[in-house]
This record gives sequence, structure tokens and C-alpha cells, in this order.
Amino acid sequence: MDKDTHSQQMSIFEKYDYPSYEEIIDAYSKEFETYVLPKGNTVFGFWMQTLADLEFLDLELQGLTEEYTINPVDRVVNLKGDDDFIRLRIAHLEKVNGEKTLYTDFVDKFGDTNAYAFHNLYPYKGKFYPRVVRTLINAFKLNSQSLLLDPFNGSGTTTHEASLMGIKSVGIDVTPMGIVLSSLKNDLLFIDEQKLNFSIKELYDIAVAIENKKWQYEDPVIYKLMLIVYFDTIDAFERTSRYNRKGKTGLFIEKYNYIINCYKKTIEIKNNNALNFESSQIIESDVLELKNIREMEGKFDACITSPPYYFSIDYVGKDKIAYDYLGADMKKIESRYLGMKNKGNPKENYSGLPLRVAMYYDDLKVSIENIFWALKPGGKLAIIIGDSTVNGKKIPTTMVTKKFCEEVGFKFNKLIFNPLLGVRNRAIRGESIIICEKEN
Ligand SMILES: C[S@@+](CC[C@H](N)C(=O)[O-])C[C@H]1O[C@@H](n2cnc3c(N)ncnc32)[C@H](O)[C@@H]1O
Repeated sequence: MDKDTHSQQMSIFEKYDYPSYEEIIDAYSKEFETYVLPKGNTVFGFWMQTLADLEFLDLELQGLTEEYTINPVDRVVNLKGDDDFIRLRIAHLEKVNGEKTLYTDFVDKFGDTNAYAFHNLYPYKGKFYPRVVRTLINAFKLNSQSLLLDPFNGSGTTTHEASLMGIKSVGIDVTPMGIVLSSLKNDLLFIDEQKLNFSIKELYDIAVAIENKKWQYEDPVIYKLMLIVYFDTIDAFERTSRYNRKGKTGLFIEKYNYIINCYKKTIEIKNNNALNFESSQIIESDVLELKNIREMEGKFDACITSPPYYFSIDYVGKDKIAYDYLGADMKKIESRYLGMKNKGNPKENYSGLPLRVAMYYDDLKVSIENIFWALKPGGKLAIIIGDSTVNGKKIPTTMVTKKFCEEVGFKFNKLIFNPLLGVRNRAIRGESIIICEKEN
């Protein structure tokens, strides 16, 4: 400590050294740390906030370790297993045996617990949390030999997270926008960096070409990427006047550079950890017609998925900018949506629930039947679902889903309720993860 920072004072008895401001702060920080930081070598991630997170950690440890105990007060875990493997896979620990986990690396590099790699490529409505997918992949003990299915793959959170974890997957969705986004997230993991290099002038010209509907490019990945960045730009631009000074092209360039940054960070993490990314297969199809793809029968080790929650979000409408630009028929896309196809009578009565809800439930049940058909014996299922309200009436989709799972032959295993923090609509409160198994 620098002597000059001390102030010396004389009392009538003797001379005192008063601590400097830096010394006081240092002592304060050390004491404060004992309350704030977990105590140990294998510690909770700071992103663990809810009881559901504690359940997720428990599920992951069941899948990844030989033995473990969780000490929630000190926020530490005692575990036995392959430390390196656990470090690369786990989503709820910050450190394993003193070493940062791969997930912490993602969080630190991207400054976010969800927007890492290409998960944040585009704000797709109803997207779920990559951390939950990672947790379930761990809980289901999937490895490089496994095959994972998401028949409501949307923007591809399941398939992208599986790819990052070196697990093969198939993603199915009925909407063209979902297909474009999920295949882009996949392709960007394997693209040659040079293909992504564009000067500011080139990017400016590309933005103008897209605006004038004159955009053409030989490489289909770059072609689609530029369109997605453009749609995202227009969407942001239309929602707020915040970007007026930057202009559309300025914002387009900024958003493109963000994607390049994501690419660089992702590849750096891949190289630093010698990761092996796996490719995913993306198919535009209807889950209700899954059985037409004969080779899918009994093919999958697990399914992690989230059907549209009834009426909670206008999924297609959100992508109006893109569909208008591409000249796609939104009504036709919407008509392929779960619950929108049948114009006849519902197969079941569902004790007087509104007709459109009954139609949706009919379709939901067929979807679950088809998932059962596509899984291997012993295959695992996780469905993420929430309840919604129609005309002020609560629609019990969570419990109906659990009932359907059991009716088609699944063994119900567990339900984890995940509260959505900060959600203003208290009627929804959160979503549930229903875990089931197709018994051998
Ligand atoms: C809740 S979102 C899933 C979002 C996804 N988990 C993600 O992270 O982006 C539901 C998805 O189901 C799709 N979908 C609706 N009806 C479908 C059907 N009949 N077959 C396949 N997919 C369908 C929608 O296009 C939408 O992307």
C-alpha cells in the first residue's frame, strides 16, 4: 500500500495510521463477497434464479454425473464424474472443479445467457430458451450417436443447440420463415469465413438492392442471410424511431456486423474447446403428416419441442414484412397451422370448450401420437407448453397435453413449472415442461 494514501494523526496517547479509502473499499468488498459469491469449486451459474432452475440443475446432474449433491444455500455442487465432459455440457454451473464451464464462456463472450452463437439471428416469436434445450439434452443423456427431433422447430432453437453440442437432429416446421431461419443457423456454423467478408460499400449496395427487390447472389446461404438481416432491420425500423438517425442502411450494416461478430466468437469457442459441431436436417412439413415420411418411424432417441400455445401469439403475422417481401400467401401458411385446418367438427367434445380450441386439441393429440410413432422404444419426450386465455376463460392446455401424452402411450415422468419472470399477463404466469418416456 502506498504510504502517501495513509493519513497519520496524532492523538494525545500515540500516533495512529488511519486506513485509506482504497483499504476500506477492499475490506468491504472482501466481506461482501462472502455473501454474494457461491463458496466452492463447483458453483451455480449466476443465471440460476428460480426454483425451476434448481430442478433443471438436478435433471442435468442426473444425466451427466455418477453421483452428486446440491447445496442450494452455498450454491455449490459436489459431484463425481468426468469433469471435462461435464464442463463442456452443463448449463447451470459456472465452474466445475474450479474451471469455467463452456456455457459460462458463451455467457461471458456474448454477454447474454440466451443470445449466444446464432440463437439471436432473428427475433422469432415463441422462440424458447436454448438453456432449457441444453438441460434436456443432458437429462436425456444424448451423445454423438443420438438423433433428436423437433417437429415444431420454428426458428431452430432445438436443432441449433443440438448442433453446438455435437448432436444430430431433425427439425420440422410448417412455416417457410422457420425453415429459412433454422437452416441458416445451421449453415452459418459451417460456412467459410471468407464468404462473410463484405466491405461497407458492398453492404450498402446490398441493402439498396434488397430494398429495390433486385437482390441476387449465387451463394444461397449469403443470399438468405442478407434477406434476414434486411427483414430484421425493417422490423426494428418500423417499431421505433430510435434508428432514424442511423438510417435503414446504417442499421442494416450494424446488424450484419453483429452476425459476423457472432460467427467469430462461436468459432473461437469451438476452436478453444475442440468442439465438434453436428449438422441438423431441416424439413418443411406438417407434423400431422409426419407418418408420410416413412423412414422416420422409430428413428429418434428424443424429442424436445414446443407446439404453438393456443392463440397466445400471432406467429405468422409477426413475419408479415418477410412474407410480403417474398410474396408468400400468409393465409395459406396460416391454414397449415395446428388447429387451423379442419373446418369440420372436432372429434371430441372437450366439455364445451370453444370450437376453435377443440380443433386445436384434436390436432395437438395427433401431433403427440406422431411423435410417439417417431421415437425409438425408450425414447424421451419433453414438451414445453403454456396455458392461455380465450374470451377471459382459461384454456387448460398444459394438463390436456399431459393427458394426451398418457393416452397415446407415453409414461409420464415429470412436470417442471417455469415461471416467466416479469411477465405482466399474470393469467399466463409461466410455461411447463412435460417430460415423458416411450417405455421399452
Ligand atoms: C412455439 S413455436 C416453436 C418455436 C421454436 N421452439 C423456436 O425456438 O423457434 C411453434 C412452431 O410450430 C409451428 N407449427 C404450427 N403448426 C405446425 C404444424 N402443423 N406442423 C409443424 N409445425 C407447425 C409454427 O410454425 C411455429 O414455428
